Amino acid sequence: MDTKNKFLWGVATSAFQVEGHIDNDMTEWERLGNFKQSGDNPLYEDAANHWLHWKKDFEILHMLKVNAYRFSIEWSRVQPEPAVFDESALATYEKMVDHLLANEVTPILTLHHFTHPKWFHDLSPWHTEKSIEIFYKYALRVINKLSDRIDWFITFNEPLTWCLAAYGDAKFPPGMMDLNKMMISLSHMLQAHRLIYDEIKKQNTRAKVGIAKNFIIFEPLHKWNLLDVALSSLIHAFYNLMVPKTFKSNRLKFHFPFLIKFNKYIPIDNKIDFWGVNYYYRMHVHFKFNVTRPFNLLFLNKSKEGVSDLGWENYSRGLFMIFKWLYKFRKPLIITENGTATVDEKKRISYLKAHLSILEKGLVKKYPIWGYFYWSFLDNYEWLEGKTARFGLVGIDYENEYSRHIKEGANFYAEYLKGNKI
Ligand code: BGC
Repeated sequence: MDTKNKFLWGVATSAFQVEGHIDNDMTEWERLGNFKQSGDNPLYEDAANHWLHWKKDFEILHMLKVNAYRFSIEWSRVQPEPAVFDESALATYEKMVDHLLANEVTPILTLHHFTHPKWFHDLSPWHTEKSIEIFYKYALRVINKLSDRIDWFITFNEPLTWCLAAYGDAKFPPGMMDLNKMMISLSHMLQAHRLIYDEIKKQNTRAKVGIAKNFIIFEPLHKWNLLDVALSSLIHAFYNLMVPKTFKSNRLKFHFPFLIKFNKYIPIDNKIDFWGVNYYYRMHVHFKFNVTRPFNLLFLNKSKEGVSDLGWENYSRGLFMIFKWLYKFRKPLIITENGTATVDEKKRISYLKAHLSILEKGLVKKYPIWGYFYWSFLDNYEWLEGKTARFGLVGIDYENEYSRHIKEGANFYAEYLKGNKI
């Protein structure tokens, strides 16, 4: 595990979702009206205003008794123009890291969590090969600055999820619907990962480098319907397993009849030290007659564990299924995100209890799990949903000068961490 050999117990955030005071591809996307999917929702404004309040927030973080914190760097701050790097932005991140370390909280740093500087999509979007070098240069700047004191890196948060949103259904910038470009973009991200992996290892031999990947449990809506069954296993193979398989085979390849036929050599040589597991929910798959999208994905409440305020079906057993799937890839796991959007703290606590007990079961069965991070530390800006989705252990009162309040879920987690023996 890490140099101190301790289980990482933490909470997670991403820069854009909490910091505020950002001008990037997403704020531009919102300004153009592309995010307004649900009426008055979402308006980014200053997110949780964490950029101004991070010190106060870290005081709260320490009260939670976590020993680790996952966060990301906002690329558009560090490189506002292609030829301009902002040292003062990097210096602020450096201060954050030092603050965490001084309080014995291990930082886990994500280099890419969905957002880009505005210039990126004009100059070198992910479907162009140049994107690899452009991203690498930004990453190098961060690594040069921080790799002497950070031992844990996540190169990309959910590369496939991002590619699907940006190139599969045009929800994120650059807003395309082109599955071939989607696969090409993913291949570029994985190549960038490989370069950055080597660089981090060169600069810090203790460092562990991973990718945070989203996993979803897909089940056929009707077990008797062979098309539902076939589609749910195809979607599972694509969404959950394709990327981990690429690390072992050096090939990013997938054949989804009528939709995707892709096969590309990527010399990635299994360069990953852990898989970050972002897990939230289960979906049911239902075949439909439609060539461009031959299925519906549905949230039901079959597990009886309830649904979140976003309608997502809680399904704690799914976490154990993921441990099993990933076992064959022979890499340690860190649960880098797990949580629920709810205004009802009883529901948050039941979600946490259920998932923590599955985690404990995984550890008893000796799955190589190195950490658990609740998503999210703070109420934040949720992509496509705005600020009504309340994922935070710490609440933000947007109407009242962004004041913070500790929720019952936070107290539960802190108590759990105090008493736990892992
Ligand atoms: C993303 C987060 C997001 C969370 C809840 C994850 O896929 O990494 O940024 O807020 O899911 O939707």
